[in-house]
Amino acid sequence: MYSLRFTPLCLLTISLLVHGVISADPLFHFCSKSGNFSAKSPYEINLNKLMSSLSYKVVPSGFGLGSVGQAPDRANGLALCRGDVSSTDCKTCVSEAKTEILQRCPNDKEGIIWYDNCLLKYSNKDFFGNIDYKYKFYMWNVQNVSNPASFNQKTKELLSHLTNEAYHSPKLFATGEQKLGEAQTLYGLVQCTRDLSTTGCKKCLDEAISEISSCCDGKIGGRVVGGSCNFRYELYPFVN
Ligand SMILES: *[C@@H]1O[C@H](CO)[C@@H](O)[C@H](O)[C@H]1NC(C)=O
Ligand SMILES: *[C@@H]1O[C@H](CO)[C@@H](O)[C@H](O)[C@H]1NC(C)=O
Repeated sequence: MYSLRFTPLCLLTISLLVHGVISADPLFHFCSKSGNFSAKSPYEINLNKLMSSLSYKVVPSGFGLGSVGQAPDRANGLALCRGDVSSTDCKTCVSEAKTEILQRCPNDKEGIIWYDNCLLKYSNKDFFGNIDYKYKFYMWNVQNVSNPASFNQKTKELLSHLTNEAYHSPKLFATGEQKLGEAQTLYGLVQCTRDLSTTGCKKCLDEAISEISSCCDGKIGGRVVGGSCNFRYELYPFVN
């Protein structure tokens, strides 16, 4: 069992069964509910153009962003694939994300959707380069470790180490592992959207890591997933 909770405003907790790694179900989504567009409006036309372009822009680097039209009808969006995902899987994920978010947030001027393999976000506001403090959720494995204090410490160390690697790297992405005694290995992943600066990426990940105790205190696996950065740790290998 995996649990999921989202911040900032709501304190809903949802439990869901873990799907296979190749599951195509979204992890989560938000619709902004702060503004609607009407059918055939300039915003809708711009948004549709933007959305079709993102699944192409995201290949081959795994990141694409774009804006279509002029304010106030300008549509801005980005798509990011997990750093270890193949171009084919990346394109598939973003195409699916586009269809899903438009269905799940009908006429909404802003929305975001996450999958294991990618995230897609769009807005009428120009959000590029800014850390997203609005959209975030937590996932954790309900199983507890037997030694939470030292486990949390080791997890923080690994993720901080990966952050220091990621924010200097071209993909703003890093994965790694660390032995925990004889029998256990901790696996970690960190990633930022590439509209952030290197310092923005570090800040975003440092803040996410500081939320470990709220998210996944003493849990054998967990993720803090935001619109600009995310981390994940598990006691099993999950990177391709
Ligand atoms: C947007 O449209 C939905 C459904 O038609 C409606 O419930 C909602 O109040 C609208 N929101 C705004 C901000 O206009
Ligand atoms: C994990 O620990 C929490 C808090 O001590 C407890 O409420 C929960 O039932 C435990 N979960 C499992 C799966 O044992």
